[in-house]
Amino acid sequence: MATINDNYLKLKAGYLFPEIARRVNAFAEANPKAPIIKLGIGDVTEPLPEACRSAMIQAVEDMGDRNSFKGYGPEQGYAWLREKIAAHDFQARGCEIDSGEIFISDGSKCDCGNILDIFGDDNTIAVTDPVYPVYVDTNVMAGHTGSCGENGEYAGLTYLPINASNDFTAQIPSQKVDLIYLCFPNNPTGAVASKRHLQDWVSYAKAHGSIILFDAAYEAFITDPAIPHSIYEIGGARDCAIEFRSFRKCGVYGHPLRLHGGSQNLDGQGQGWFTGRTLETLESAAIY
Ligand SMILES: Cc1ncc(COP(=O)(O)O)c(C=O)c1O
Repeated sequence: MATINDNYLKLKAGYLFPEIARRVNAFAEANPKAPIIKLGIGDVTEPLPEACRSAMIQAVEDMGDRNSFKGYGPEQGYAWLREKIAAHDFQARGCEIDSGEIFISDGSKCDCGNILDIFGDDNTIAVTDPVYPVYVDTNVMAGHTGSCGENGEYAGLTYLPINASNDFTAQIPSQKVDLIYLCFPNNPTGAVASKRHLQDWVSYAKAHGSIILFDAAYEAFITDPAIPHSIYEIGGARDCAIEFRSFRKCGVYGHPLRLHGGSQNLDGQGQGWFTGRTLETLESAAIY
């Protein structure tokens, strides 16, 4: 008899955003005249810029001509795109990332969950509190946690509070955790991380053999030149971090295209960390 994944039953209120939508709809029905400002899902509000529209139109036109038509692309993403990303998003900021270390996917949200397939089930996991719920729910669904307690925390996860008392930067844990989710600029607080703070995390990860899953989805909004856009601006991060980025937040909003960035040093031996493991295409450390 077919069985289901019981871990889904641990999800407290389904995915957060459907729950927000359920409550907003119930409120709107009960209060039809009330003006509602929605602070839940950050939906698209601005039209696409001209450069994006014309590139998309051109791409569709190309598909109608035998000379420019493209079939399936390479699984890691088109080389021209990976090269541009490596040059503009990483090398221009002094990061030692080359195009072979970049993996283009269809979205960063899915990748935050899919990346778990390459990790063992016995890793200890730290998330900040509050946190982008995808990191937690995907670990719950993958069976990496116990049940949800009364306080809304899942057994088995290490929660690192971020609030005004620590200037919205998570304190480095005293105990060892194997996987650490960091998101800067942060969703939901908007806080950014200094180079010093990220350096402390990198040092911690290297000392404990941990991997930092660094979500830089909102890096395009950084205006202070002292704030790092990528964890690879930090020395040693190549050995212990996988970076996720999102094109949806920077002009192509609403259109799924993401990159994971990583490093071929992730095994600490200068070889592709994923080489010889199940996902050879993920030799790289950066994922868009
Ligand atoms: C922190 C964070 N990471 C990732 C994502 C998802 O990015 P994408 O639109 O590329 O799936 C979001 C979207 O809300 C986000 O807030």
